[in-house]
Amino acid sequence: MDSNLHTTPDTIKVLAHQQYDAPDALSPTTVLPNPLDQFRAWFTAAQGVVHEPEAMAVSTATPSGIPSSRILLLKQVDTRGFVFYTNYESRKSRELAANPHAALVFFWREVHRQVRILGRVERVTAEESEEYFRSRPVGSRVGAWASRQSTVVGEGDLQKNVEDVRERFGVKEGAVDADIPLPEFWGGWRVIPSEIEFWAGKPSRLHDRVRYILKEGASDESPEWTIERLSP
Ligand SMILES: Cc1cc2nc3c(=O)[nH]c(=O)nc-3n(C[C@H](O)[C@H](O)[C@H](O)COP(=O)(O)O)c2cc1C
Repeated sequence: MDSNLHTTPDTIKVLAHQQYDAPDALSPTTVLPNPLDQFRAWFTAAQGVVHEPEAMAVSTATPSGIPSSRILLLKQVDTRGFVFYTNYESRKSRELAANPHAALVFFWREVHRQVRILGRVERVTAEESEEYFRSRPVGSRVGAWASRQSTVVGEGDLQKNVEDVRERFGVKEGAVDADIPLPEFWGGWRVIPSEIEFWAGKPSRLHDRVRYILKEGASDESPEWTIERLSP
């Protein structure tokens, strides 16, 4: 039996007390002035050490404030923000259309780091979505057409849709490429950050937290950020 768990028929108690101790100290005086540069530095450092560092929790909310979260893959980050791709008719996209704000969080266990991002969202251009869509493996492109994401689906219906899509676009068995256009119901969202927090785990829960908040009135070309330490 796992000594970190206490289980009874109706309860699980987690008794583990993991310790976190990130290698470097994190301070408002030593981080980079722009949080996107700081993110790039951490993301690059996570490559090869953290399994799938691009996996992030994405939270959306209805206009009345009911939240929902799911894991998505970060596909691009640049000075404009953080981009992920999905179905525009999915639950998340409907929520983003009605309430265009999202929260992202990355947890990189192997390096004891967390990054939280908050911002408004916009759709990326159809050209950007097209370029990314064409880079996806053929099976994923078929899958995008075949799935009405977030809707209830009958047993076996998805496979039937896949076969229909393959036939429609002439995708042969085992084909590694095919001419499959971007569905009009599929594409990217960009989260334009207004707040980013970097967290580095430290012993006894005395973690380092550094938060950047976008200053009002700064231009999009040269954003200015207030950088502060937060209590753990
Ligand atoms: C590791 C991982 C990566 C995922 N990446 C994506 C993604 O990039 N895009 C996507 O639409 N769904 C992705 N999913 C599935 C989503 O978590 C979710 O099930 C789906 O987007 C439907 O969410 P919704 O009904 O809230 O819209 C991923 C799931 C996991 C576990």
